[in-house]
Amino acid sequence: MTFPVVGMVGGGQLARMTHEAGIPLGIRFKLLSDTPQDSAAQVVNDVVIGDYRDLETLRAFAQGCDVVTFDHEHVPAEHLRILEAEGVVIRPGIEALRHAQDKGVMRARLDEIGVPCPRHRIVTDAADVTRFAEEGAGFPVVLKTVRGGYDGKGVWVVGDETAAAEPFRAGVPVLAEEKVDFARELAANVVRSPHGQAVAYPVVESVQTDGVCDTVIAPAPELSAELSAQAQRLALRVAEELDVVGHLAVELFETRDGRILVNELAMRPHNSGHWTQDGAITSQFANHVRAVLDLPLGDPRPRAKWTVMVNVLGGDYPDMYPAYLHCMARDPGLKIHMYGKDVKPGRKVGHVNTYGDDLADVIARARHAADYLRGTITE
Ligand SMILES: Nc1ncnc2c1ncn2[C@@H]1O[C@H](COP(=O)(O)OP(=O)(O)O)[C@@H](O)[C@H]1O
Ligand SMILES: [Mg+2]
Repeated sequence: MTFPVVGMVGGGQLARMTHEAGIPLGIRFKLLSDTPQDSAAQVVNDVVIGDYRDLETLRAFAQGCDVVTFDHEHVPAEHLRILEAEGVVIRPGIEALRHAQDKGVMRARLDEIGVPCPRHRIVTDAADVTRFAEEGAGFPVVLKTVRGGYDGKGVWVVGDETAAAEPFRAGVPVLAEEKVDFARELAANVVRSPHGQAVAYPVVESVQTDGVCDTVIAPAPELSAELSAQAQRLALRVAEELDVVGHLAVELFETRDGRILVNELAMRPHNSGHWTQDGAITSQFANHVRAVLDLPLGDPRPRAKWTVMVNVLGGDYPDMYPAYLHCMARDPGLKIHMYGKDVKPGRKVGHVNTYGDDLADVIARARHAADYLRGTITE
């Protein structure tokens, strides 16, 4: 036995932070990245620059890896099936991953196993969206391209049939969902290993602005112990039924009458788990690495009463460094995570974590730093 090589497809910040988590574990890390400038490609030593949509590139990359895992869900399923048949160890495997790659497949499977979801069905054109609304959901309807979306790209809230034409232009099947009047959004994050060990993180509240994750509070404030346990059990059950290996994020809606509905699944480290870097005994990234290598999983319990994560989005100032100096000086307890990405308005370029006993204070400190870095406040 020797220390294995984890290969990650995709050079974004999730790969960068997974690599970081593997360093103290002594794990060797290999990356397939689109360009040398990508967030993870800047810091990983063993990088292949290539196109993840190309089978030969994937095949050559997998040669040097004991296990292949992912920073995103966009690798073509047909390629992964071929590689699996050739003996490449892919975790999560394609039979699990396809539920995170395609929102239609995900909904169908969740229905099958009796997991509560918003009312939904695949729609064929704008007129069919109207029929879907008339079947009981009513307008506005949420439309989603089944593949390729992220950060709210690929999600439309449409008020009528005219507006419903747009999502069909991409040539990808479209899923219609009732627009849930949720009280808030939650995420139940679990990690599962091939031998079936699983751990559940505390259920968090996540706040999305314009479809992009903005704030995560761990644990979700005032969530009843019952609903919290129910959400954790649900996520563990989904992980087991779908045979997920690695980190699974189950995005949830908490309804105003105290039920939970599943929004979507992500089978990789997830933005709703970034708080674990500073707020949990074992981070989601470290546990993802452990899981894909079938190592014993680390303790998911929190280290502080409250941990808050706020994403740092790009603003109008291309250089965040002066603001960064200010934030660091102002709050020595602030945990800053920057991704090495160029600043573009609205782009996720980093996040900050704060923790402590006083929730209002913990939120205010993280909020302040993220806003100051973005340049929306100057004091
Ligand atoms: N059925 C729905 N009802 C109400 N809001 C929704 C619904 N589906 C999605 N949303 C909102 O849009 C966000 C993004 O949708 P999601 O399916 O998670 O796409 P993405 O893949 O971009 O994360 C959600 O976090 C939620 O805020
Ligand atoms: Mg989502």
